Amino acid sequence: MKSYEIAGAKIEVEDRGRGLPVLFVHGFPLDHSMWQAQVDVLSQNFRTIAPDLRGFGASSPSSGTVTMRQFADDLVALLDCLKVTEPVVLCGLSMGGYVAWQFWRHHASRLRALVLCDTKASADTAEAVAGRHKLAAAVIATGHGAARDAMLPKLFSRNTPVAKPELIERTKMMIARAQPESIAAALRGMAERPDATPWLSEIRIPTLVVVGQEDAITTLDEMRGMAAKIAGAELVVVPEAGHMAPLEQPEVVTPAIASFLNCCSA
Ligand code: MLT
Repeated sequence: MKSYEIAGAKIEVEDRGRGLPVLFVHGFPLDHSMWQAQVDVLSQNFRTIAPDLRGFGASSPSSGTVTMRQFADDLVALLDCLKVTEPVVLCGLSMGGYVAWQFWRHHASRLRALVLCDTKASADTAEAVAGRHKLAAAVIATGHGAARDAMLPKLFSRNTPVAKPELIERTKMMIARAQPESIAAALRGMAERPDATPWLSEIRIPTLVVVGQEDAITTLDEMRGMAAKIAGAELVVVPEAGHMAPLEQPEVVTPAIASFLNCCSA
């Protein structure tokens, strides 16, 4: 891992390989290691850049509210530190997708293409906002276990806990690495993110949309609707996967991303 000071935080990043830069942005409340299967394969042909967002993994803890815009701005500063001037392919999962909308909106010249995994464009409903604040308070009061218990039952397909129990353990370990204040800060940031739906028809870069068929958080229907609004977007539906499709079915997701990247770099 490399480490950089960015806007008052230490940001850790795994930077491997050479070629077209691909920036992997993890979901909530995880870290860069959720992309390990993709990075191991894709770094043979591309430059894979997989940071821990501020507050997560080995990066500095955060507090208050961390907006999706702040995460996106951190990523651009990180690319500057890594001397990546060429536009990147941003591959984000869920919260990573919320960051992708901000990256597209505010740093379009740094973006070549999008891979949107198990995410959505819509903002939170009032009920979802209330749920985020309630969970933030619970995490502050009782620790990261409150986030683990809220998230784990929703993350995987029915079969994954039986067929691949090690993934549940890996996910628990990722969540345990985040400090309660950092988890709460990201929850508050997600609660105030804007609706990106009106932007979808303005996106004019190659876009791959990936969704686990059993995703309970960002459903197939929702993602199909989102993909339909982005001109030319390709949709890949991953069988026997839930919200964590890249982790659950790397044999399907990694080749899909590889073939998309090959088209982007052609
Ligand atoms: C994620 O996986 O990043 C979260 O499910 C995002 C969310 O809570 O909206």
